Amino acid sequence: MPRAADDGAPASEGAGADRRPVTVLFADLSGFTALSERLDPEDIRVLQGDLFQLMASAVERYEGFVEKFVGDAMMAIFGAPVAHEDDPERALRAALAMRERMAALNGRWAGRLGRSLALHTGIHTGPVVAGTLGSTPGAAYAVTGDTVNTASRLQAAAGAGEILASRVTYRLTQHAFEFEAVGDLSMKGKAAPVAAYRLVGALAIPRPARGLEAHGLVARLVGRDEELGQLIAAFQRMLSGRTQVVSLIGEAGVGKSRLQAEFLTKLEAGEHSGKIAVRRANSSSLGEKTYGVLASLLQEAYGVAPDDSLEAARRKLESGLEALDVGAEETARIAAVLGYVLGLGQEETRMRHLEPEQLKRQIFLAARALIEARLEASPLLLIVEDLHWADPASLELLRFLVDRLPDRRLMLLLAYRPTVDAAIVVSSRATHTSIRLEPLSPKDSDALLASLFGPVERCPERLHTLIVERAGGNPFYLEEMVRNLIANGVLVRDGGGWTCTADAAIVDVPVTIRGVILSRLDRLAAVPRRVIQEAAVIGASFDQRLLRMVSGDQASEALLEALTDIELLAEEPQGRSGEGPAPAAGRRYRFTHALVQEVAYENSSERATALEHYEAVLAGCTSTGDLCGQARVNRKLGTLYWAAGDRERALGCFRAGLNVLRGQREHIELAHLYQEMGRLAFRSGDNNRAMEWAERALAQAEHAGRESATAVSETGEETREAAAAVAHAYNTLGVALARLGKMDEAVAHIERSVAVAEKADLLQAVCRGFANLGVLYSTLNPGRAIETCARGLELAKKIGDLAFQSRLYANLAVAYCALTNRCDEKGLCAAQAAVDLDRRLGQLDHLAVPLIVLGQIYQCHGEPERALTHYREALTIAEEVGEPQLLFPCYDGLATLCLEMGDDQQAEHHLLKAQAVCERAGLEPDALAVLPFLD
Ligand SMILES: Nc1ncnc2c1ncn2[C@@H]1O[C@H](COP(=O)(O)OP(=O)(O)OP(=O)(O)O)[C@@H](O)[C@H]1O
Ligand SMILES: [Mg+2]
Repeated sequence: MPRAADDGAPASEGAGADRRPVTVLFADLSGFTALSERLDPEDIRVLQGDLFQLMASAVERYEGFVEKFVGDAMMAIFGAPVAHEDDPERALRAALAMRERMAALNGRWAGRLGRSLALHTGIHTGPVVAGTLGSTPGAAYAVTGDTVNTASRLQAAAGAGEILASRVTYRLTQHAFEFEAVGDLSMKGKAAPVAAYRLVGALAIPRPARGLEAHGLVARLVGRDEELGQLIAAFQRMLSGRTQVVSLIGEAGVGKSRLQAEFLTKLEAGEHSGKIAVRRANSSSLGEKTYGVLASLLQEAYGVAPDDSLEAARRKLESGLEALDVGAEETARIAAVLGYVLGLGQEETRMRHLEPEQLKRQIFLAARALIEARLEASPLLLIVEDLHWADPASLELLRFLVDRLPDRRLMLLLAYRPTVDAAIVVSSRATHTSIRLEPLSPKDSDALLASLFGPVERCPERLHTLIVERAGGNPFYLEEMVRNLIANGVLVRDGGGWTCTADAAIVDVPVTIRGVILSRLDRLAAVPRRVIQEAAVIGASFDQRLLRMVSGDQASEALLEALTDIELLAEEPQGRSGEGPAPAAGRRYRFTHALVQEVAYENSSERATALEHYEAVLAGCTSTGDLCGQARVNRKLGTLYWAAGDRERALGCFRAGLNVLRGQREHIELAHLYQEMGRLAFRSGDNNRAMEWAERALAQAEHAGRESATAVSETGEETREAAAAVAHAYNTLGVALARLGKMDEAVAHIERSVAVAEKADLLQAVCRGFANLGVLYSTLNPGRAIETCARGLELAKKIGDLAFQSRLYANLAVAYCALTNRCDEKGLCAAQAAVDLDRRLGQLDHLAVPLIVLGQIYQCHGEPERALTHYREALTIAEEVGEPQLLFPCYDGLATLCLEMGDDQQAEHHLLKAQAVCERAGLEPDALAVLPFLD
């Protein structure tokens, strides 16, 4: 079951909503409704039960989560509540299993149904918000986001028995499955067509998932000379007759398999080539049977293939054993036991009557006899890959073997991630060498990229640095970033070489890497998982005492050490001079990888507990005298209080931040604080203040920009931050100008903001600009407005920002209505999409906006009742939020609607209220149409 975390408690449950990539699977049985009209209701009930059982068990087999059954359809998620690094693959395997099992179901039901049934399946991978959404008691775990809609649309497009995957899912799984391209499908509610791929089946021999060979990019082995030397030294010791156990330990993707492969290549090229027997076992993340490692070694040794018949497999095993020349009786004995391990029918029945202890003893002895016989012929190298997924019985067996055969020409090479305790296989009787694979140095990472692409000139320097920095020495991360850049068309093949199509390229965290990291975090028990998320909120490195203030006593030394042991955290060296007040400083820890912090931070559920945490962080910053930290945390707290509806306290926090920084040259932070105050003033209807703060923000931001342009910056981070502040300030000023009715000036400022943001890859700022421009253009040029919103929407989807998506849908609705002047169907769809998103995200202050649009559309369509419902709901929210620009359109809409419905008294009442709001807030008539949509 997917919910089982280490301590049995689902770590994600009850933690509010989190953001994560998942693979969504929709399967549906067409024609069920027609069937239910013909069949006996009792039969229908049983059939439905049968079907649901079939689908749910396939999902659970691959550790997915059945989110819901609707009618005769099922929605399942792979990647939430617990992520695996291969979730897209698991979803496809579950879909295939369902399809296969339908044959049996049809066999059982064909007589009664008179025809066979088939599933229609759609699968898509993308970002969602996951969690127990909504606060009603008993609210179920669910995911929401556009990813769900796309999967559902693919399912609707799939024919009987067909499994359609989106392009993203296809890209992530094509190494292990066969697909047929279906072409572009245009889908209801989607502007751009969606490319679909028909799943044919799983490949018998999957291609490697790692590496970029498919793109013609191959890198030589970089670094690792020392480790290779250690492997060879152990090998030499083994040749002299001393059994060797070598552990290769390192994070996912750091290069264990690669090093092991290079070691083998070296052996094959050397003097011992052909004189050593090499046997390899792989453990699978899908789970291993008892003695899975032994079974895997036997399959390799005797060439037993997964699709061999039992008879063929037995023959292979027996002839292999005969070649060892141990005598007929011994061969028969070993063959029986090993046949059992391989699951060969006859032997299995024969051995099943044994007591468990007796059975284990027989297996151990048979394995030992086999290996001894093998060692008579030549030295033996046993390689066990991914030992972290091996079953406990296999580990015990390996330990038994090295314990009993300490002085042979036997080498056991184990590769595993730091999550397992190797003590279980380490015997005091054989030499054990432990090789920890550290991340590659920046120099080696540079060399790796250069080895892939050739001379560095081909890859712009900034992009090169960005990739190397973000990969943090993990070659798998590095490869995946490159893969993503190729898939997104940023890196394109150009004759014999490669060129980069964007000067300001985006290097975001690919789904594959997120999957690997989230699967580690999700597997932590609830307490360490929460502590890790809280640490991520503080930053990439943190003081232990500060974390304790945030997380309480649960952030104990023991827990931090445990997190250090599994290499999520590392302790920083103590006593670096000149850094902070030394005597007061506690131990410092850092995330071993910046991406782990990033993913943990994004995934953390901020809502319920964030306020408390930040208050504690603030106390920490105050006690250590960290002024900039105090200002930053004050700003964060301010935005959280604002989101929680407490504007007074929000303003108090922003002011406190400004006070702390009085006389300091922290221009960027000052710009951010002024910015927030400007936004707050704007939303409260105080335009003069809004202009004033926005101008101060701009001045500080430009100051910061000038300073960073002259400073020597290694990463360019300061320049980026300054650019973000400038972009933001222009935007806020533009919005304030729009409020004064100065539309041309407003447009010019916001266009400037977008230009700055685009240049510095500030995608969220670009989204914000597009959303605002989309509305400002709509009165002058609706076509351009639609295009701008659509571009913004595409970008918001790309960065997985649901809040922006909802704003852009609402603004798109306005643009559509302006274009046709009669509120068409597309406008309705867009507004409805925004309402749905806001409801799911709990974004109440924005929800009023698309509700108003829906009210206007229904009013225009001559559906007054529906219009009334929407206006009323919008008004309830607007009154709670208290923003004049939301209140005005509600009163105004209700007034005209009541007039149309003949209720003059109510109309008058609303009209007066509308006027009062307008006067109180000094709203300009020109601005009224656009203000609710600006931010
Ligand atoms: N030193 C290196 N030089 C060049 N490429 C490397 C190096 N180390 C790893 N790679 C490449 O990086 C990718 C990831 O490495 P690899 O699969 O060996 O990681 P791993 O540690 O075995 O991960 P996992 O724990 O997931 O099995 C592979 O494509 C590999 O070829
Ligand atoms: Mg590996």
